[in-house]
Amino acid sequence: MCGIVGYIGKQKASPILINGLLRLEYRGYDSAGIATIEQNGITIMKDKGRVANLYELDGINNLTGTVGIAHTRWATHGKPSKENSHPHMDNSNSFAVVHNGIIENYHELRSFLESKGYSFYSDTDTETIPNLIHYYYEKDLEASDNKFLAAVKKACDDLKGSFAIEVLCKDDPEHMVVVRQDSPLVIGKGMGENYISSDIPAILSFTKDFYLLNDREFAYLSKDKIQFYNNDLKLIVKEVKSIEWNAASAEKDGYDDFMLKEIYEQPVAIRETIGAKLNEKKIVFDDFSLSKEYLKTIQKIYIIACGTAMHAGLGTRNTFEQLCNIPVEVEVASEFRYKNPLVSEKTLCIFISQSGETADTIAALKLAKSKGARTIAISNVIGSSITREADYCIYTHAGPEIAVASTKAYTSQLTLLNILAIYFAELLETSEENILTELKQELLNLPKKVELALKDVASIKSFADMVYKESDMFFLGRGIDYAVALEASLKLKEISYIHSDAYAAGELKHGPIALIENGVTVISIMTNPDLVEKTISNVQEVITRGAKTLIVTNQPIEDKRFDQVIHIPETSTLLSPILSIIPLQLFSYYISKEKGLDVDKPRNLAKSVTVE
Ligand code: M6R
Repeated sequence: MCGIVGYIGKQKASPILINGLLRLEYRGYDSAGIATIEQNGITIMKDKGRVANLYELDGINNLTGTVGIAHTRWATHGKPSKENSHPHMDNSNSFAVVHNGIIENYHELRSFLESKGYSFYSDTDTETIPNLIHYYYEKDLEASDNKFLAAVKKACDDLKGSFAIEVLCKDDPEHMVVVRQDSPLVIGKGMGENYISSDIPAILSFTKDFYLLNDREFAYLSKDKIQFYNNDLKLIVKEVKSIEWNAASAEKDGYDDFMLKEIYEQPVAIRETIGAKLNEKKIVFDDFSLSKEYLKTIQKIYIIACGTAMHAGLGTRNTFEQLCNIPVEVEVASEFRYKNPLVSEKTLCIFISQSGETADTIAALKLAKSKGARTIAISNVIGSSITREADYCIYTHAGPEIAVASTKAYTSQLTLLNILAIYFAELLETSEENILTELKQELLNLPKKVELALKDVASIKSFADMVYKESDMFFLGRGIDYAVALEASLKLKEISYIHSDAYAAGELKHGPIALIENGVTVISIMTNPDLVEKTISNVQEVITRGAKTLIVTNQPIEDKRFDQVIHIPETSTLLSPILSIIPLQLFSYYISKEKGLDVDKPRNLAKSVTVE
């Protein structure tokens, strides 16, 4: 959701900025723009539509400035249009600003600025920021050593809401100021040049050394130096973090789409996530540990997340409950944060977020902490906001996930959560050792089994070809298969725009069966040997009413009544979601391709949902 790029160095900034924006396209946006500092002041080039349109703008090739900021906008205040696109300038054309997030008190700020004679040319909340900076710059900062930085800080004091902003100042052309509050921003350190971005993949080809700003920390950057300040404008020292991802992992690498590439990267992502944690000994996490005494006090575990990450919680709730004997609730973060949840110091809250920047999940985490719960963040992005808020943090090692539809992050999250549950059970001694040893062995076997599950593309494709013109589909499953049905249904909706619903198979006769008629597609997941017969009976009911059926199973089902049966390798029932989702990810992918849609950047969706 909105993307920020910045460059300050010795090279021409505009191509670097546009290239960075192209790499952030997956976050979702409707307009794009850049600002650079030229000989005669700040120049802005922007328009609604794709980033690539910037190349067509008159004069874009004449920009020579080596300092610049850039933005992809996801409309919140005001429709997508050239006027509403970022960067925005103040009335005197002295400051240019790009902004991610939402300024909640912008009406108030705008009225204040209007009363001081400022005019506004867009409908955005952002346009208040450069004008407010200008107001303070002119007003009372004569005594300040660094008027530019002091004016940005004064303006930020007035802002309510979330923001990551970059600011250029005409009078200080060799610097820029950046600051964040509840919105992502990273600074990449180069040699005689520095980069700014909303997330790491956009600038990974330039540097692997990053600084991560905390809320209300400011950076005052030149090409050779980055100075960090806290909210009182006291100089602070920040550590540089080196990121292990390589630039190639953020490229398509010969695949048609990032999503397909990421689906095929799952064996590696799972292997990397398992890392050295599993062997014949007890599980050890490198940078995280909990004591048996503490775990014994836990009366409830909450798993809290959004979308696919929440489905990873649903897919592993049983593992925690069965192995650790602790009740688990899985909650959507946007609900949790507003419901006055029953959380205390006897509750352990696990927050899952691929990006680590999802606004609802971060707010839910802050709430749980304020109520005394201990918090664990599971994220794929080192140093992301959620990892800095939580008491403990563990990483999936899926590598950058670029496609909006999450695939490898989901199976890596499932893997890590299963490992965490085994770790708890080992500490608590709530499960028999042979059960845990078998599960660990099965986890180690998973990458190979995922490779096998990725092989049967022909049958998936042929079923996708048969049904891609449909407008409604249903996914059924019992127990853990129901959790996978929910994820498969979300995947299909996201990238194919086909309406779909997921039901616990036993619920069918309590309502949804009324929707089954000739030709409706019903997809069922059956991996629990104890429940297979029951789900088959449900599928039989829909076949009788004319449904087309696809079955995903690890059981020896060869029934001619089904239109297609996809066999996946057998594994422990608790781990089966990691395999059963694979053909269904491919199914959604091929449906989307058949329909000629943009798989990686589905309409209306953003990769990181950084605002409410
Ligand atoms: O970055 P997060 O894991 O916090 O994102 C949560 C959801 O926004 C995300 O999983 C979303 O549902 C995906 N687009 C699903 O494919």
